[in-house]
Amino acid sequence: MLSMKNISKSFATDNVVTHALREINLDLNEGDFVSVTGPSGSGKTTFLNIAGLLEQSSSGEYWLDGEDIAKLNDAGRSRMRNQKIGFIFQSFNLIPDLNLFDNVDVPLRYRGFNASERKKRIEHHLDQVGLASRMKHLPSQLSGGQQQRVAIARALATSPRFLLADEPTGNLDSQMAQSVMSLLEDINKGGTTILMVTHDPSLAARAKRQIFIKDGRVTELTQKNQNNLHLVNGE
Ligand SMILES: Nc1ncnc2c1ncn2[C@@H]1O[C@H](COP(=O)(O)OP(=O)(O)O)[C@@H](O)[C@H]1O
Ligand SMILES: [Mg+2]
Repeated sequence: MLSMKNISKSFATDNVVTHALREINLDLNEGDFVSVTGPSGSGKTTFLNIAGLLEQSSSGEYWLDGEDIAKLNDAGRSRMRNQKIGFIFQSFNLIPDLNLFDNVDVPLRYRGFNASERKKRIEHHLDQVGLASRMKHLPSQLSGGQQQRVAIARALATSPRFLLADEPTGNLDSQMAQSVMSLLEDINKGGTTILMVTHDPSLAARAKRQIFIKDGRVTELTQKNQNNLHLVNGE
């Protein structure tokens, strides 16, 4: 469903050019659950943002669901993002003065679903993350783990085929991190393709595939040799 060929991304600031990504090649199949690890500043967020059509690459080819992303204009990329991709962030990014119901409603209103369809989806997905009884609560009345569950419900409400998570457990204690990870595993079993950046090696190891980014280059850990970190196409 996703194919990147020689994807590079550079940022030019104050006469300094940062090569955030260097000629990345990656194919993702429908139903994959891929974890992304690597040192701080290695390009993980840049990679996720390009995959999620939040940023454009400087060069290379990116195909998503049979579409050549380079051929889409801003509106085309937004349309694809809204229809196919859900995002979860480390800091949850909930709207503080909206209750849970209204937070999950935001992307649904944006997509133009009618009121009864929105209500059905909101209730279904809050139930899925175990928070149906809290619909009228504000985010500040929940724990961090619960807030991240709301963010997951919001990401799933539009039925994306592809879920991108940037350090989704980064602000959570280990018990809450485990429960969010279990929820992501269930979502993946339901057919949603997941790409997750994490700092936690034990969570990364639970994904079906593991990729490692260092200095803007991607290497994939093979299934067989995950324990000794053998690199497929690595340095
Ligand atoms: N908007 C930007 N402008 C300039 N440099 C950036 C920008 N975004 C990221 N970078 C640089 O690109 C590199 C990769 O950043 P990032 O993808 O955020 O890494 P990670 O998520 O692995 O910590 C870093 O050197 C970072 O400073
Ligand atoms: Mg990052």
